[in-house]
Amino acid sequence: MKMVVKIALTALFSLSYFRADNSFLTREEYAKMLYKNPRGISCAKCHGPRGEGGVISRYLSDGKLYEIKAPPIVDLPQERFKKALKRRSRLMPEYFLTEMEMAYLYYYLSRQTNTKNNIKRVQ
Ligand code: HEC
Repeated sequence: MKMVVKIALTALFSLSYFRADNSFLTREEYAKMLYKNPRGISCAKCHGPRGEGGVISRYLSDGKLYEIKAPPIVDLPQERFKKALKRRSRLMPEYFLTEMEMAYLYYYLSRQTNTKNNIKRVQ
């Protein structure tokens, strides 16, 4: 079973899909582009350019300051990530992404974690 998943992922991330499309995007570029602008509403606007999380809005009520936050979305198990994209939320738009698009988004975000770790290791 694991092998099948591996093969499926390899096929998914192979460049053939884009080459056949006459596109010059690498998978990194495509994944980044998708994260920045899926269905016209950027994940980055709420979750930050690298999925680190962010403040969507602040408001005052009864003299108190409240913040509406989007959580960090790096380092999530893939199943949890996909579930969140499929369920309805009061704050997050529903995207109706394909399995492939979700896989690319997950790929993009997992690379952000790696980058962060690498930076940490160097310091
Ligand atoms: C308008 C702001 C907004 C946008 C745009 C948005 N999100 Fe979210 N997202 C949220 C908020 C707020 C939450 C937490 C509350 C909730 O789940 O409803 C959340 C939750 C999540 C979670 C669940 C996190 C966890 O800890 O389980 C994931 C995964 C996620 N978003 C991924 C994405 C991706 C990928 C995109 C782009 C395709 C995106 N979001 C776009 C606001 C946003």
